[in-house]
Amino acid sequence: MSQIDLDKFSRYSKPGPRYTSYPTALEFSDAFDYDAYLNYLESGTNQLSIYIHLPFCRSACYFCGCNVVYTSKADKLSRYVEYLKKEIDILASHLDTSREVIQFHFGGGTPTYYQAFELDEIIRYVKQAFPNWSDDAEVSVEIDPRYFNEEQMLVFQKHGFNRISFGVQDFDPKVQETIHRIQPYDETKAAVDLARRYGIESINMDLIYGLPYQTLESFKKTLELAWTIEPDRLAVFNYAHVPWMKKTMRKFDETTIPSPATKLQIFQHTIDFLTGHGYKMVGMDHFAKPEDELFAAIAKGELHRNFQGYTTKGGANLIGIGLTSIGEGERYYAQNTKDMKAYEAAIDAGRLPFERGVDLNDDDVLRKAVIMELMANFAIDIKRVEKEHGIDFKAYFADALEALQEFVDGDLVTITDEKITVSPTGTLLIRNIAMPFDAYMQKYAGSKKSFSKTV
Ligand SMILES: C[S@@+](CC[C@H](N)C(=O)[O-])C[C@H]1O[C@@H](n2cnc3c(N)ncnc32)[C@H](O)[C@@H]1O
Ligand code: SF4
Repeated sequence: MSQIDLDKFSRYSKPGPRYTSYPTALEFSDAFDYDAYLNYLESGTNQLSIYIHLPFCRSACYFCGCNVVYTSKADKLSRYVEYLKKEIDILASHLDTSREVIQFHFGGGTPTYYQAFELDEIIRYVKQAFPNWSDDAEVSVEIDPRYFNEEQMLVFQKHGFNRISFGVQDFDPKVQETIHRIQPYDETKAAVDLARRYGIESINMDLIYGLPYQTLESFKKTLELAWTIEPDRLAVFNYAHVPWMKKTMRKFDETTIPSPATKLQIFQHTIDFLTGHGYKMVGMDHFAKPEDELFAAIAKGELHRNFQGYTTKGGANLIGIGLTSIGEGERYYAQNTKDMKAYEAAIDAGRLPFERGVDLNDDDVLRKAVIMELMANFAIDIKRVEKEHGIDFKAYFADALEALQEFVDGDLVTITDEKITVSPTGTLLIRNIAMPFDAYMQKYAGSKKSFSKTV
């Protein structure tokens, strides 16, 4: 990648969505009600992707933006398993359980804060309720290397898990101390080795840039150490700093967060380093070995973006189970409550713990397709969008195209009659480039407390 003009790019640093969904979670509301959600569940015929949220963590990592419940009480964890089972029963009564399961994911929190027998119990329960698992289902779990043992790995192996994502974030001791997550290199290496010994072929590692005390030099070392472990995929996330939403983010001194210019330098180095060491970039913040199936999907225009990042499995309906989990169909998003008491009360009353969501109108469906294509493939096939949605692209998106002109002038985007293409340097600003296509953005213009910064 050519050298970027850091000052020029820093000016693009403004609040913007990460587009794991469109419309974004800020548009979820109770206007989409329980009956509408049930209706979608009951009439659905697509394959299923099941997500189970296990929200508990032993202690807080100060940077964490996930939906987490901190506890040291084992009975809280086991009580939640009982509720999960009841939620699964209620779900199973509202949808065709013979639909094929092509994806299963345990997310968190820290799924491996649970003991092996509890994880086994949950998976067996899901498999009993939804018995039709595809032979090549993608079965995955997020693992914190600080909480991972062989017994748990045996359970994952027994149930056919084939992907594991390890949270690392940064190897630098000063950064680790500041974010309240001490995780020595050897601990991470041992966790990955354990997974590999049990035949896990796809290992992902999460890193974050933009954390307190990170410098270009310190992150260079983190990347070198990460590389010695040779993960099959690497996610290098831009730190989303939203202290007005997450109190633990106020526990460190904000002024130690690297500047937008340093963050850009770090990310540019990340791209140069990883592409020079056997990886290719996928979408906004992921890297994988060239033989990864993600690239075959890109070639066919079939790479999809969802809450877990990038995937080749796009057509399935995502069913979210557990506190705060999000489900997704072609025309809706549905989110469970974030409040444990409300979660339990709903289930005790025989209802799904659904709280809010959004019913997509035709305009949302179209804009979602365009934004997700940009986020996944860094391009928009204008003719395909016109054919699939029956519109005249340039007329429909006249405003967006006008807003994109500044990126065209800066050689970051090219627009022809057939295609919108983002240049390799432009990919660093992909969230900014997607924003003109977002019909809700206007509402948040000028509001600092909506989204994290794009750069
Ligand atoms: C639910 S967490 C990870 C699983 C596991 N609990 C762990 O920490 O190893 C998923 C990932 O989200 C990323 N993440 C969490 N908070 C973030 C933030 N504020 N900005 C960017 N990425 C974040 C981290 O890289 C983390 O590994
Ligand atoms: S990063 Fe992982 S372990 Fe740390 S608080 Fe968040 S979910 Fe828990």
